[in-house]
Amino acid sequence: MLTLLPQFGIGAADLAAALLFMYGLYRMSSPVTAPSGIFVAGIGMAVAILASFLYAFNVGAAARPHLLVNVALAVVALGMGGGAAWWSGKKVAMTAMPQMVALYNGMGGGAAGAIAAVELFGNKAPGATGLIVTLLGALIGAVSLSGSLIAWAKLDGVIKQPVRVKGQQAFNGLVLLATLAVGVYIVAATQGNVSLVLAIPASIYLFFGCALVLGVLMTLPIGGADMPVVISIFNAFTGLAVGLEGFVLQNPALMIAGMVVGAAGILLTLLMAKAMNRSVANVIFSNFGNAPRHKQGNVKGSLKPTEAGDAGIAMRYASSVIIVPGYGLAVAQGQGKLFEFVKLLQAGGVAVKFAVHPVAGRMPGQMDVLLAEAGVPYDLIFQLEDINDQFASTDVALVIGANDVVNPAARTDKSSPIFGMPILNADKAKRVFVVKRGEGKGYAGIVNALFYADNCNMVYGDAQAVLIQMIEAVRGLGLPAAA
Ligand code: TAP
Repeated sequence: MLTLLPQFGIGAADLAAALLFMYGLYRMSSPVTAPSGIFVAGIGMAVAILASFLYAFNVGAAARPHLLVNVALAVVALGMGGGAAWWSGKKVAMTAMPQMVALYNGMGGGAAGAIAAVELFGNKAPGATGLIVTLLGALIGAVSLSGSLIAWAKLDGVIKQPVRVKGQQAFNGLVLLATLAVGVYIVAATQGNVSLVLAIPASIYLFFGCALVLGVLMTLPIGGADMPVVISIFNAFTGLAVGLEGFVLQNPALMIAGMVVGAAGILLTLLMAKAMNRSVANVIFSNFGNAPRHKQGNVKGSLKPTEAGDAGIAMRYASSVIIVPGYGLAVAQGQGKLFEFVKLLQAGGVAVKFAVHPVAGRMPGQMDVLLAEAGVPYDLIFQLEDINDQFASTDVALVIGANDVVNPAARTDKSSPIFGMPILNADKAKRVFVVKRGEGKGYAGIVNALFYADNCNMVYGDAQAVLIQMIEAVRGLGLPAAA
């Protein structure tokens, strides 16, 4: 009875954790319910961790003398990891989120690899199938660990340039084949099917070494700008590795959490690729954002600068304004001032809406989070497909810190790297104001024909500073609020 109770507790806790993960993920699908979704999934994780401690009741007699030390070590590790995550999570800036996600994802892959290492070195994996699954998890986890660390280094500016050499893809293919060959040797040698040419522990080290090198080689040539998609791919890898190791350990919480993360990572990767109108292979093997630029087409017209105050006043006298936020708004941390400006316009009777492109910013949902952070009500925020038709009947489009997501080249210029990407139709508004610091290009590194269009004026400056000037100018009018 006493041994059955923990067993029942583990099963019940695993099931509860799995349900909490899935319900949490479901709530994360909308910005309105996302904060509570994260909380619910966090409780699921706490339940899964508690369930792991119940395994302590079931250890065999041989392991019992080490039990206290091992439980103490686990508590210390949890305290250290939890403390570091709490501190870094509180401190991280919104624009530094992608590198933080990369780092945490790498740790997930590393954890899956570490579980596999314990199983392999302890010779615990059951039979050939168990061994193959463990090795697969080890390979994917190790690739995800070293690849994610390189992604972090690129996003953080530690590695500034993609590293490319001739024949790189072929060489990467050879390293993959070598890793697989070592894996096959480990399985065959452990089963006694081949004579030993290398001791099993040494071949396990070699296997992990090859897999870690493969992760580095795969990621080094990819441009820093493509890192969010790459991280999403590694995220799917990590989930898969964790799921496989959960299978080896027969741990349902690991299996379910791993598969949920793996599936979510794959879906996210596909959605991001679709929103950029690129294939996943194109992301991994092309040189986007760093290749010698395509010819810039014939951009007609000229850049027409205007003062921030004048633009602010023009919007105050408009009857409808659609705001297109982009990466630069996050860089400037201008979301609070933007909403202050919006409230001023609304008080004057101007109908204001926000148009969010699926890949605006540098990570999925970044603009939704940014606007939510400023307190913008969700009913003012519209996704591309819900608002694109409304630009043509709108007085002003205010493009703030955005560039590629409003570049008409995506519609017309077949040689453009963003050709085919759905864009927000800001150019169709009667008048357009673009706020940016200078003539810096967007993520894709291309000229934006919208900026040169007859109906467009440039407002140069940091987004937050420009918004402060706009607010002052509108307040300076001293107009009464609309009835
Ligand atoms: P971008 O095209 O990157 O343009 C951002 C613009 O903001 C730049 O042209 C820059 O011009 C301006 N800027 C930077 N700092 C600023 C500041 N402090 N104040 C005012 N302006 C500032 O951004 P976007 O339109 O959001 O497009 C996102 C791009 O990222 C797309 O090409 C997308 O494919 C790519 N991408 C997105 C994701 C996800 S999931 N969101 C993932 C991977 C790739 P100045 O330097 O002249 O100021």
